[in-house]
Amino acid sequence: MWSENRLCIRWLVHQLLVASATYHLQTCVRGEPQVPCCFIFGDSLSDNGNNNLLPTAIKVNYFPYGIDFPGGATGRFSNNLTVPDYITKFVGINPLIPPYANTSGSDILKGVNYASGAAGILPETGTQYGVDISLESQITNHRVTVARITRRLGSIEAAQRHLHSCLYYVKIGGNDYLNDYFKPQYYPSSHIFNLTTFTDFLITIYSRQLRNLYELGARKVTVVGVGQIGCLPSQISQNGSCAQEENKAASLFDSKLRSLVSQFNSQFSGDTASFIFVNATAITTLNPHFLGLKFQRVPCCRNLVSSTGLCVENEKPCEDREEYVFMDGFHNTDAANRITALSAYNASNPAFTYPTDINHLLSSSP
Ligand SMILES: *[C@@H]1O[C@H](CO)[C@@H](O)[C@H](O)[C@H]1NC(C)=O
Ligand SMILES: *[C@@H]1O[C@H](CO)[C@@H](O)[C@H](O)[C@H]1NC(C)=O
Ligand SMILES: *[C@@H]1O[C@H](CO)[C@@H](O)[C@H](O)[C@H]1NC(C)=O
Ligand SMILES: *[C@@H]1O[C@H](CO)[C@@H](O)[C@H](O)[C@H]1NC(C)=O
Ligand SMILES: *[C@@H]1O[C@H](CO)[C@@H](O)[C@H](O)[C@H]1NC(C)=O
Ligand SMILES: *[C@@H]1O[C@H](CO)[C@@H](O)[C@H](O)[C@H]1NC(C)=O
Repeated sequence: MWSENRLCIRWLVHQLLVASATYHLQTCVRGEPQVPCCFIFGDSLSDNGNNNLLPTAIKVNYFPYGIDFPGGATGRFSNNLTVPDYITKFVGINPLIPPYANTSGSDILKGVNYASGAAGILPETGTQYGVDISLESQITNHRVTVARITRRLGSIEAAQRHLHSCLYYVKIGGNDYLNDYFKPQYYPSSHIFNLTTFTDFLITIYSRQLRNLYELGARKVTVVGVGQIGCLPSQISQNGSCAQEENKAASLFDSKLRSLVSQFNSQFSGDTASFIFVNATAITTLNPHFLGLKFQRVPCCRNLVSSTGLCVENEKPCEDREEYVFMDGFHNTDAANRITALSAYNASNPAFTYPTDINHLLSSSP
């Protein structure tokens, strides 16, 4: 399955040339990962437990979240896996990347997940719900990891060589609109800025943060657009149809983000750094597998907590979870996440990723 087969065959051929392959056949089941490590930054769509111990309403370490996950709820905002979980699986990294909050005893050389529910590019974003770990703080946490890896590997050179080989996955920005700009009762952003100037402001800060990641050793970076936030079930239930102003904000943000990726690729060319942009809107509107899911807008959880859009604790969710796009008012099911991850990893339509997909990002540069 997946990229493991291809690697496996290559490895087998190599073994046949060297010696008898039969002895090693068993180790072939796993195969080597395409890259050895992955670092994940973002919001609830990527959080895998970082919010569990924070004083916030945005955490989901309770049933029915994780209903299909071996062992139950972990803090993932899904019935099973998230998009970055699937991507790391496709890359061949095992086991799943641990949350930063719980890396003691974990193999941090394989990567760390810093993502936090409600978080944004701006530090104040999402704080009407309590504490979150903003992108700025996630990068501060990554500095700690880089220092730990440097101590482990014994030199800055060895640590940087390792860090250069990793995949970096960043998806953030949705909350800066949904839980900041479009919540004027809590945040002053929309009084200070209009949509254009706010988006420019966000992109300027995001650009500096991505540059900081580069300076810490990131060379293969996947940034994911926010997608159609106005069509989330929570937004549709408020307005009866997709919130046009929010979708407009999202496409403005995404097109500026894509330009930023393009700018980084020309700035860092010759330096082996590569950035790609994943178009979440294209994946949800053009992928036949995504559109083939039976329930596009009704969440799997029938009753949601009205203030957060999360599933009500201990209530039985839908049975046919493989047929739903959404688990709750904001977050996708495992089924939708699997399709999204595959579209970003092996883009069957060139509209899904720019300028190339994750598989090519990882196999092209050194
Ligand atoms: C991605 O595509 C390659 C061939 O282009 C294939 O070998 C690999 O199995 C695919 N990966 C997944 C996860 O489907
Ligand atoms: C945290 O680590 C402990 C011990 O390794 C493990 O039992 C637990 O499941 C981990 N929690 C999360 C959220 O990963
Ligand atoms: C949930 O994901 C795990 C991988 O961690 C997989 O083994 C399991 O089959 C999945 N469960 C369902 C019901 O899809
Ligand atoms: C947003 O504000 C800027 C600067 O104040 C102004 O130039 C621009 O016309 C405004 N855009 C819209 C759509 O109102
Ligand atoms: C609410 O829905 C209507 C169409 O039913 C749409 O025209 C309007 O833009 C939506 N409101 C917002 C805030 O986007
Ligand atoms: C994303 O894809 C949609 C649908 O194909 C397209 O309309 C939009 O322009 C794309 N956005 C970017 C930033 O490429």
